Amino acid sequence: MKVRKFVPTDLKRVFEIENMSFNQSYGINMFQQLYEMGIGFLVAEEDNYVIGYVMFWIKYENQGHIISIAVDKNYRRLGAGTHLLVKAIAILSLLNLETIYLEVNENNVGAVEFYKNFNFKIDRTVPGYYENGDGAIIMYLKLREGKVSR
Ligand SMILES: CC(C)(COP(=O)(O)OP(=O)(O)OC[C@H]1O[C@@H](n2cnc3c(N)ncnc32)[C@H](O)[C@@H]1OP(=O)(O)O)[C@@H](O)C(=O)NCCC(=O)NCCS
Repeated sequence: MKVRKFVPTDLKRVFEIENMSFNQSYGINMFQQLYEMGIGFLVAEEDNYVIGYVMFWIKYENQGHIISIAVDKNYRRLGAGTHLLVKAIAILSLLNLETIYLEVNENNVGAVEFYKNFNFKIDRTVPGYYENGDGAIIMYLKLREGKVSR
């Protein structure tokens, strides 16, 4: 398994994986736009076949944000998600951030467990966060204490 930077020819496959993974989609155009904005965008591949992706950026000063991570249903529990998130955290950790945070559907018990393995903690729940009315759990990973000195 290899993790590498996303390239535009991965777009269709990433969209396919997103579709099989979430009820609510960002849409293929949003993926393209996010990529063009220069967000962190990595894919995992097995034998040159894309099996997962992660997108991340700095949303607020001092805070990294995992926008989305998903692995093809047929390739889950094989470590691809871990490879992707380890790499994303490693890149964000180079940027002197205080925390990395993310939102996860309150019913997505598996993903919450996945994130807890990385020491992500639950911050709070936001009721009605998703279009279908589901709430989101906000999780964060503390990278360091204190404020950035300027
Ligand atoms: C969450 C997701 C990205 C994990 O990817 P993955 O490649 O299957 O994860 P890994 O194989 O690296 O899992 C590592 C560990 O996380 C935990 N974990 C992962 N999926 C889990 C699940 N469904 N239930 C419980 N624990 C889970 C386990 O501890 C697992 O280790 P183990 O397999 O040895 O028990 C994947 O399940 C997925 O794409 N889900 C749909 C999209 C999604 O929910 N994205 C995250 C929400 S924003």
